[in-house]
Amino acid sequence: MAEKQNKPIIIEAHDLWKAYGDLQVLTGLNIAVEEGETVVILGRSGVGKSVLLRQILGIEFPDKGYVKVHNKIISKLSQKERDKETKRMGMLFQGAALFDSMNVAENTAFYLRQHESYLSEKEIQDRVDEALEMVNLAGTQEKMPSDLSGGMKKRAAIARLIVYRPKIVLYDEPTTGLDPITATQINKLINKTQEDLEATSIVVTHDVKSALEIGDRLAFHYDGKIAHIATKEDFLHIDDPILKQFLENSTITEETKSGHNKRSH
Ligand SMILES: Nc1ncnc2c1ncn2[C@@H]1O[C@H](COP(=O)(O)OP(=O)(O)OP(=O)(O)O)[C@@H](O)[C@H]1O
Ligand SMILES: [Mg+2]
Repeated sequence: MAEKQNKPIIIEAHDLWKAYGDLQVLTGLNIAVEEGETVVILGRSGVGKSVLLRQILGIEFPDKGYVKVHNKIISKLSQKERDKETKRMGMLFQGAALFDSMNVAENTAFYLRQHESYLSEKEIQDRVDEALEMVNLAGTQEKMPSDLSGGMKKRAAIARLIVYRPKIVLYDEPTTGLDPITATQINKLINKTQEDLEATSIVVTHDVKSALEIGDRLAFHYDGKIAHIATKEDFLHIDDPILKQFLENSTITEETKSGHNKRSH
């Protein structure tokens, strides 16, 4: 049997510190994500998961430590070089909103027009149609965001992201606010996107059920650091009372949620 080859590290955060005023959010956080894998970062609300993603995307810089993407320290790049790196990344922002005044096709084309301005209008339309097909929204090009359900909006936001085929995809709470069945559909879509784009991904969530549906490895963000990172199987058996409590509470929350979220239509 072939030995497991170590894959290159695509995203690395090293000894990352970040404070806002007196609030110390990241306190020496380390994480490394290998090429092609999906790491899910779990953690309670307010621990700094979104803050971490913003450092990786290079829209904010750490106070100390660094983020390397493709072996380049993001905060040390010139604006031009950083833009070049950022273009290869796609981020689904928490609460990812569509532009209300644009239809689905225009929304989907938005970043593509920004990032790949050399494409012809026909090429853009073809890429938009292809992306919408990938997220199962074929035929909705003319619809306005107000005509879409929550799950459809989320899928359109993912189409807007994958249309320019990023090699790194960051998802911030992609399933928050969705009912469990829709959440599972989105999770499947995240997995499919990962395969289709051969991308390296980080998914941030506080939903353990989603984490198990998505990740190759799961990480636990706690007290300003990644306290644990392990394969799905190992993660559930880590002997840490704080993690155990988080996992147990999350299970209860999920059950409670699925009871409350049944919709009448
Ligand atoms: N730009 C900012 N200025 C001041 N404080 C901030 C800023 N961004 C984040 N914070 C604070 O940092 C902490 C971590 O925020 P963050 O949004 O990363 O949490 P999170 O883990 O993503 O939580 P959630 O699961 O609720 O999204 C919070 O206390 C937040 O109020
Ligand atoms: Mg957040």
